Amino acid sequence: MRHTFSKLIGPFCFPSPRKRTLGMAAGHGYGRSPEKHRANCPNTVCYPADEPELDGDMPAALRPDTAPRIRSVDLKRSLTLRIAIVATACLALVTAIALIETHAEEQRRAATTADLVAKQLDLQLMRINAGFDLSNRFPDLDVVVDNAAAGGQCVRFYDERGEMKRGSCVGAATSDKRAPEWFSAVSGLLFSPGDGVQRPVTYKGSSYGAVVVSSDPEAVTARVWREIKHPLILTFLTIASLSVFVYVAIARALRPTQQVIAGLNRLADGDFSHRLPAFRLAELQRISEVANQLAGKIEATLAERGELTKRLMNIQEDERRHLARELHDEFGQNLTAINALAASIEKAAEQDCPDVCIEARSLGQISMRMMQSLRGTLLRLRPADFDKFGLVESLRQLVDVWSASRRQTRFELSVPRTLGALPDNAAIHIFRIAQEGLTNAAKHAQASTVRLSVEPIPASGARGRDAAGIRLTIEDDGAGRGANGVPAAGGRGLLNMQERVAALGGSISFDDRPDAGLRVRVIVPVHPEERAADELSRH
Ligand SMILES: Nc1ncnc2c1ncn2[C@@H]1O[C@H](COP(=O)(O)OP(=O)(O)OP(=O)(O)O)[C@@H](O)[C@H]1O
Ligand SMILES: [Mg+2]
Repeated sequence: MRHTFSKLIGPFCFPSPRKRTLGMAAGHGYGRSPEKHRANCPNTVCYPADEPELDGDMPAALRPDTAPRIRSVDLKRSLTLRIAIVATACLALVTAIALIETHAEEQRRAATTADLVAKQLDLQLMRINAGFDLSNRFPDLDVVVDNAAAGGQCVRFYDERGEMKRGSCVGAATSDKRAPEWFSAVSGLLFSPGDGVQRPVTYKGSSYGAVVVSSDPEAVTARVWREIKHPLILTFLTIASLSVFVYVAIARALRPTQQVIAGLNRLADGDFSHRLPAFRLAELQRISEVANQLAGKIEATLAERGELTKRLMNIQEDERRHLARELHDEFGQNLTAINALAASIEKAAEQDCPDVCIEARSLGQISMRMMQSLRGTLLRLRPADFDKFGLVESLRQLVDVWSASRRQTRFELSVPRTLGALPDNAAIHIFRIAQEGLTNAAKHAQASTVRLSVEPIPASGARGRDAAGIRLTIEDDGAGRGANGVPAAGGRGLLNMQERVAALGGSISFDDRPDAGLRVRVIVPVHPEERAADELSRH
């Protein structure tokens, strides 16, 4: 049962449209001024605590106001993106290395071809000199190029004056399909075609010109493309599937964070009995442990403070009871005696001394007024016969007093004939809460009707008269507490109500209805063990 009611203990601050239940366990509060809080949450129903302990102990980063605002990042997307970027960069690097190596190899092949062609031309010059060949056929590149040049290479011969005499190109292999445009563009950006490899052609110390071998850039690019196309596609597919795998793996790994968030939300809602579950992921397990420790400490602190408040209030009630008894027995008796004495003097002096008679009558009237005032004080301190007749009857008396003193307001009471056995302390606290609620309605609401109702909350499966708790409602049709349900700066009445409720382990909610008055709902649990103890102590 206690657990059920502890769930009712709400957060420090609620969005007002949800009309959440407010738990006022001791220590619940903002730990900052209500004005400041109201400025920050204009649409919430918030209740300040008189001591800022919780907030004060909280690390600065956890405090709602001071936590730095950071742009949140989706971990799955961000990690996947980073992995994809790194993999793509590696892919680009590998492609660049392949391009560089192919170009370097192409340079080497061009140098080999240039050496071969230069040697062949030397031989041709030797044959011409020996008369085995015709000089006008020099340089005969066709035969030379067919033997020496590779596909995609061009061989040109320049005479000593630098004029090109002949040139011959070998077409690229038919298998060297053209590379895609983007690849050619990247390759073109990285490598310039260059001037080719040059070798001098000399015979017996005389220079006849030079042979230049160059490669067709398109053919080179096509060859590079042919070589790296398949690894490139494979790597691309690997990156894509790796990204999907990483995304799914992270999403699965992070799934328990939903539980963490849900658990933390329950703690933030004031359910400090809630504990986060254990997690396989070490980081989440650590968070869970710390959050559970924190919740445990807050729960213990709240319980301690609740217990302390309860004790204080019980002491206060005992003191009031004692004071009421003293006032009633001492003061009340003496006033009654004075009154009787005054009546007797008045009677005796009627004949002989009419002047004394008037004074005696005044004395009687004064003592009557004092008795009335004493009765009011006694009612506030401890309603007459509270201990004898109990809560229901005392509430009836209270409503009668208000109805008699405020004729412009109708006070209605709805109580069952009996509430069953209530622990004594619970009964007096409920009475005090009702008392403050009615006083507030009479003082602040300017209402035409004020309703007070008390009803037992049936325990599920409970036998007989025992109730699980008591629901007390005080509602008026007055002006309410102002726009948005923001309470006006006031005294201690509402705060005392909250402290009493918290000490009883119950919950209280203030329902500000614009233009329809204020409704205060209190639920106080009645624990069977307390009831039994109380009944025992009475016998
Ligand atoms: N029924 C109500 N209707 C309208 N306003 C209310 C009502 N109850 C409380 N208030 C507002 O809430 C404020 C706080 O009430 P609270 O009982 O705490 O203090 P108080 O009545 O002003 O002083 P105290 O109770 O200490 O004598 C009040 O000043 C009043 O403005
Ligand atoms: Mg008040």
